[in-house]
Amino acid sequence: MTIFSMGSEGDGKNSPRRDTPLSGPLGGKKICVVGAGFVGTVAAAGFAKFGHEVICVEKDPARVAELSRGKVPFFERDLEELLKSSLAGGRLTFTSNLEKAVDGSKAVFLTVGTPSANGGRADISALKDIISVLSKCLSPGQIVVIKSTVPVGTAGSLKIILEQNGSGTRGVEIINNPEFLREGNAVFDFFNPHRIVIGGDSHDAIETVAHIYRMGMTRHVPIITTNNETAEMIKYASNVYLATKVGFVNELARLCDGVGVNAVEVARVMGMDPRIGQEFLNPGPGWGGSCLPKDLMEFLGLADSLGISLVIPRAVHDANQKQFDHVAQKVKDLLGTLEKKRIGVLGLTFKADTSDLRDSPSIPILKILMEKGAEIMAFDPAAGDDLAAVLPGINRVNTPYESADGSDCILILTEWSEFQLLDWKRMGDNMRTRNIVDTRNILAPELVKKYGFDYSSMGQI
Ligand code: UDX
Repeated sequence: MTIFSMGSEGDGKNSPRRDTPLSGPLGGKKICVVGAGFVGTVAAAGFAKFGHEVICVEKDPARVAELSRGKVPFFERDLEELLKSSLAGGRLTFTSNLEKAVDGSKAVFLTVGTPSANGGRADISALKDIISVLSKCLSPGQIVVIKSTVPVGTAGSLKIILEQNGSGTRGVEIINNPEFLREGNAVFDFFNPHRIVIGGDSHDAIETVAHIYRMGMTRHVPIITTNNETAEMIKYASNVYLATKVGFVNELARLCDGVGVNAVEVARVMGMDPRIGQEFLNPGPGWGGSCLPKDLMEFLGLADSLGISLVIPRAVHDANQKQFDHVAQKVKDLLGTLEKKRIGVLGLTFKADTSDLRDSPSIPILKILMEKGAEIMAFDPAAGDDLAAVLPGINRVNTPYESADGSDCILILTEWSEFQLLDWKRMGDNMRTRNIVDTRNILAPELVKKYGFDYSSMGQI
């Protein structure tokens, strides 16, 4: 049974431990969460667990029905258990009716997507549409909380829309409360945040949002209060830095490969310096996902719009594009040619523990391999049905062993732990030639070499 409370292993010294949430005016609030994606569903179920009364708005009635039955229509570890627990607690409901859901809600959290539009700038049209509706049904004292990742200045522009479109919306505050949830770890991250960021210019509204979180705390979690723009920038800067750190270790691995040094060892020792830290120093096929790529493009787009030339983020983007070519070259280096070669691919999503294919490195990498004449037999334990749309031409198989049948090379693109537990002797016995490119360094070189594989990794000599 997962313990759903903020920092359940907390020290308890910095804040009173509560076994049951405060009730009444000092306690639970009526909260509306708009958008039942992985962020919105986690936040809605999480806030309900804190003791608030939560109504989550989702425009897709089918998804409303599924979630109301305790079924999560996408892959997110622990979320189904949290959802069922919050539904059983009687504090969580789902609806498609935004106006009804907003009525009486103290805070309306917006968790809708802000994908890259053409040219890379974030598209906030979904948010604008919701604000236009809210401007007709909000009243003074209610708070709009933007949890979506939004360009710097968005809160200010949405406030203008709110006031222009609605008569009674003066006195409705707009707060930024960016999330730092990692896909596959979102439930853990929600209950174990490193910090909570609340941006706005109304002390009362900021305090209300801070209280919403304090209700869930069993240990001290830093609550950072600032203005809207700073909160918006903190989110982008954090993600661009994470991409920078991964991009650095990917290039370090290439250099280590060249001089026969173990990059994993180098990164491990680097990370012992608290100024560097161990996290995000694992070389890979490149960084992807629904956030880092779009956030880097928005960061660069903002700079370009201001005529500010940023060298490092631009280089981070370009290095990541080169990483895809580098992975394809590693396969070619092992095989001599890609023409008419069969490649068994393990992992298609942008990382393990998710079903998300958005901006996955596998897409550009496999397109390069197929353009050069390779046949792809791909296994992924969680990728959704949208695979055919993003990777037409690949053959999807049902087991890792099928991807090895008659293959000339196994290409590992995600770090699912089940790939480490495969019978690699059996894998090799079914292959035409025994080659492995392990872009996640999840295999032990000495093990696979014992089974006669030529093994190429990311700086794991
Ligand atoms: C990211 C941020 O981590 C999270 O705080 C924010 O809220 C949303 O964006 P996510 O998109 O789920 O989360 O992916 P993340 O776990 O950060 O990984 C991003 C990419 O970097 C993935 O492709 C991953 O495989 C890659 N990565 C990450 C590495 O290659 N090496 C690492 O050491 C870490």
